[in-house]
Amino acid sequence: MRQRRECLIAALSAAGFAFVQPTAGAGEAERPLSQALWNSSETDNIAFLTHSPGECLAPPKTAGADYRIELGRAAFSNPFLFGGAAARSGLSCNSCHRDGRDNPDFFLEGLSGEPGTADVTSSIFSKSREDNIFNPVPIPTLVDIAGKASFGSTAQQPSIHAFVASAVADEFQGAAAPAIIDGIAAYVAHLGSGFCPEGETPQNVTRAAGDIARALRAAEQAMQRGEPEMADFLVQSARHGLGLIHERFRGDKLAAERGLVADLSRQLADLRPGEDGDLVALAGKIAPALDRLDLVKRRLRRKERQSLYNRKQLRRVYEGEGMDD
Ligand code: HEC
Repeated sequence: MRQRRECLIAALSAAGFAFVQPTAGAGEAERPLSQALWNSSETDNIAFLTHSPGECLAPPKTAGADYRIELGRAAFSNPFLFGGAAARSGLSCNSCHRDGRDNPDFFLEGLSGEPGTADVTSSIFSKSREDNIFNPVPIPTLVDIAGKASFGSTAQQPSIHAFVASAVADEFQGAAAPAIIDGIAAYVAHLGSGFCPEGETPQNVTRAAGDIARALRAAEQAMQRGEPEMADFLVQSARHGLGLIHERFRGDKLAAERGLVADLSRQLADLRPGEDGDLVALAGKIAPALDRLDLVKRRLRRKERQSLYNRKQLRRVYEGEGMDD
């Protein structure tokens, strides 16, 4: 594991973080999953990939708030939010703030000191914010931060909104639309300890498909509201989610399941509004896409035990036992 990590880091820093493709190729059986790329060498990858701490999201009070929070929720896990190196590497807010919390497993050479820390004023992510000091700080949880007077310790901001706007623009060199920043700020402000699920949340096809469905429903709302850029972003978030499922269905025996996921992703690509896309017509295609997603989900669940959602299969990747059943 150690050696693979060093290769990865060397490749990332030399090429400005070439994105690690989750598809077929040599050494496929042992390739680490992209969701575990930022784990320290001490991490129990199998536990990490089968469970997460659980999201503490308060229910919205109005329908308008619902749309904004869902937009922010999708953006929180979408690496395309960031421009530059961070986006190409597949990094999102959720990579550091797992389910909106901290992440004691996070480690990236040159950016982290101890596992669970990051130097967010480093040139790895942004030329403009580099302070030439290696000053990693613990990644904080974002649960219950809404009432605080200031945000961040290294580059303090007076509100969650200002912090997120500055993080996306300066730190990660993104150019996110103001509506997306609003959405992320609303999402973060709705994370409260009174709403945490009991125990950890299993990582499985059902949860992954649920996230995709939520992004698609928000895309439908964006279309109905006449917001093509937001609709496009949300459809793309849904497709990113499908990519993560695709990656877990590895090996010859699961080729048919991968094919279903790839077909659905192509179906979703047709939902991205173009220059003069008819948003009303596109909105009408979301319900059939959701039906299709449900069907694909049920097909995938039948083979889930053979996929990398399963502990035993993961052990074969992370403990080098090969993929054959
Ligand atoms: C590379 C890991 C990393 C990524 C990616 C990241 N953060 Fe953070 N975040 C941190 C660290 C470390 C801090 C603490 C910074 C400090 O104290 O100055 C922090 C602080 C924050 C804070 C302030 C918390 C407080 O209580 O003051 C907010 C809000 C926040 N992050 C939101 C986000 C959002 C939203 C995203 C995605 C747009 C994001 N972060 C992406 C590591 C990360």
